[in-house]
Amino acid sequence: MSDRKALMMGNWKMHANHLEAIQMVQKLSYRLESADFEQVDLVVAPPFTALRSVQLLIDTDKMRLGLGAQNVDWHSEGAFTGEISAAMLAKLDVSHVIVGHSERRQHFGDTDEIVAKKVKAVLESEMTPVLCVGESLEQREAGQAESHVVGQVNAALKGVDPTSVSGVVVAYEPIWAIGTGRNALPEDAALMAGIIRETILEMSTSEISGKVRILYGGSVNPGNIKELMAKEHIDGALVGGASLDPDKMAAIVRYRI
Ligand code: PGA
Repeated sequence: MSDRKALMMGNWKMHANHLEAIQMVQKLSYRLESADFEQVDLVVAPPFTALRSVQLLIDTDKMRLGLGAQNVDWHSEGAFTGEISAAMLAKLDVSHVIVGHSERRQHFGDTDEIVAKKVKAVLESEMTPVLCVGESLEQREAGQAESHVVGQVNAALKGVDPTSVSGVVVAYEPIWAIGTGRNALPEDAALMAGIIRETILEMSTSEISGKVRILYGGSVNPGNIKELMAKEHIDGALVGGASLDPDKMAAIVRYRI
């Protein structure tokens, strides 16, 4: 058993306006007890437009939830219409920022170089980057899954001071498992999580790589979370679709029960 605390993060993607977001967080919070938060860190990542409302709710009701963002721009400030900086997110008490999600890599041109810059920007603002990596179905079928994922991890963490690496969360999200209802086999997910930890060990120390939390993402639901969490090296989940349903997300947090 590792002493890494489990982390469950809900990635709401482009769902929920700020009023809906408040309701969802309230419902989620009502379904959880303080004992749940002793065992699991829970972070919700609503769209940017809901961050301030959810921050105020968490603050006012003293909820033990963390606030996450789904993306960030790496520049500190400037003429970048439509973008949001890491400092702006930190000021909203955002603790975790998703970086390099496959949807951003696929639809919005986030290259390995951009992802690396975003990781650095998030760390500089003293937040936790949740670095997403994962192979496509074609890459898996061609036997390239491992080299692709190792390449993504190396590229994203290149130049990051080894002591800062322990402040990074890595989410292994095979693209073919995202939003498809077809999750990776727990054995395969665990194997890749182990490879990711090995990759981090090569750039740091065993103490640091032992601290990094590695999440699995891709069609996680209340029915498959327990088996995934039983695997070595899997320390939590990045949850898309199921996180929009407070009942399902609460059940994922309470996977031990
Ligand atoms: P999913 O999404 O749980 O809906 O598969 C996961 C993600 O994209 O982070």
